[in-house]
Amino acid sequence: MRMRNKQRKSATLRCCGGSRCLTSVAIWSLLGCLLLLNLFSNVRHKATEYGESQLLASHHPLFRELQQVDEENIQIPPPRGKRSPRAEKRRPKRATTLVDEFLNEESQLRHIFFPGQESAIDPKKNNENDSYYYHPGRIWLDTDGNPIQAHGGGILFDKISRTYYWYGEYKDGPTYQSPQNGITRVDIIGVGCYSSKDLWTWKNEGIVLAAQETNETHDLHKSNVLERPKVIYNEKTGKYVMWMHIDDANYTKAAVGVAISDTPDGPFDYLGCQRPHGCESRDMTIFKDDDGVAYLIYSSEDNSELHIGPLTEDYLNVTSVMRRIFVGQRREAPALFKHRGTYYMITSGCTGWAPNEALAHAAESILGPWETLGNPCIGGNKVFQQTTFFSQSTFIFPLPGLPGSFIFMADRWNSADLRDSRYVWLPLIVAGPADRPLEFNFEFALWSRVSIYWHRKWRLSRVGWV
Ligand SMILES: *[C@@H]1O[C@H](CO)[C@@H](O)[C@H](O)[C@H]1NC(C)=O
Ligand SMILES: *[C@@H]1O[C@H](CO)[C@@H](O)[C@H](O)[C@H]1NC(C)=O
Ligand SMILES: *[C@@H]1O[C@H](CO)[C@@H](O)[C@H](O)[C@H]1NC(C)=O
Ligand SMILES: *[C@@H]1O[C@H](CO)[C@@H](O)[C@H](O)[C@H]1NC(C)=O
Repeated sequence: MRMRNKQRKSATLRCCGGSRCLTSVAIWSLLGCLLLLNLFSNVRHKATEYGESQLLASHHPLFRELQQVDEENIQIPPPRGKRSPRAEKRRPKRATTLVDEFLNEESQLRHIFFPGQESAIDPKKNNENDSYYYHPGRIWLDTDGNPIQAHGGGILFDKISRTYYWYGEYKDGPTYQSPQNGITRVDIIGVGCYSSKDLWTWKNEGIVLAAQETNETHDLHKSNVLERPKVIYNEKTGKYVMWMHIDDANYTKAAVGVAISDTPDGPFDYLGCQRPHGCESRDMTIFKDDDGVAYLIYSSEDNSELHIGPLTEDYLNVTSVMRRIFVGQRREAPALFKHRGTYYMITSGCTGWAPNEALAHAAESILGPWETLGNPCIGGNKVFQQTTFFSQSTFIFPLPGLPGSFIFMADRWNSADLRDSRYVWLPLIVAGPADRPLEFNFEFALWSRVSIYWHRKWRLSRVGWV
């Protein structure tokens, strides 16, 4: 932003004329020099920080392991059934893509995207090393041996109990197409909650915010929509505060709901919903900054832009401050994190249950301006990278004790059977220069690269955990 100011100054310089100009030129040149000096020291400061994180990255064995990638070579099977060459000529069939195969319930490749129970990680078999690995896309079981139901969710680390809580949509009901609008859905059951001491074994804590079965006018009536619940803790009030997308079956209500609890494992009391800042709100997340200020980020204006604004001190409402970001860019599924004073965000495009390309963004101030860094996905193959590994972002969790390392949490939606949607967790690392050169950066790496590395399986070392 400093460069923008500088350009404005040189424009002033060009406008001047006459003899008084010489003094002006001298003063402006001096100012310009000072500005450049300032800019240079700023760049050098950034470069030093960048060097430090590189040093950390290269010296930590876990970093190197997390940065490896797997490649995927998937052959699309030939279409079933014979077609006459003449018919072929008359109506050339569009080539099937991996995304078509992913969305096709009958596809022969189904097992690649949605592997069966046999290959699931089984917490009871934890004497075998393999059981400690995350297998993105496989069925993940809780400590009772049941598939985890925490879709579109996020993790809270509770400092009081030193326990991780994973909240998400509990979708263990039948998937059906709404006869009114054709939208594929599961009735609201509630918000599921799982606890863990190691981010790997998850105990089912039950449904911490339940649907309303009979009260048809209630926001949480099962015929409505509850998506993307996220929980943060408020130190001042001692309450756990949940924010979530609340909608009607037609997605016309476009609101955001709030619930609170005295304990992380609920039950949460539902307080109500609103259109924040008077605007539509669909996909959303909340982010709590180091200074205790929390923010709501939501897709608005028919999903064409994101809005971001701080919450009140009790985290129960928005304030009047709001900024519009990525206007006209149609992004959703926002997930935020912060590293070395810089804010980062991953978003997806808007293509319903179908996967699309993720983008990483960065900002020096959380309210913006936000710059787009590019697609963070590395490995798999080109289609994997262009589809966020066939998943959609939901949350980014900082790895305790390993600065610059995060768990990227995403949902692989199974639109044929939403309860069987899978979790794609992958290492996300902030290091190295951003690959898209940005405006006004003088070729210096002012932003770091955000990378999400594809692994068929990967694990966390016990070292460095809290
Ligand atoms: C588990 O890992 C250790 C050390 O990496 C190795 O010695 C052992 O053979 C492994 N066990 C199995 C069952 O793979
Ligand atoms: C149904 O829900 C509405 C909205 O929350 C509430 O005002 C009303 O009291 C509820 N009715 C019953 C019978 O609980
Ligand atoms: C949804 O839209 C359909 C068709 O426009 C309409 O019949 C129905 O009443 C709407 N439902 C809700 C909950 O708004
Ligand atoms: C939330 O704040 C808005 C103004 O920013 C106010 O109009 C509204 O009543 C507040 N809602 C609650 C539940 O306090």
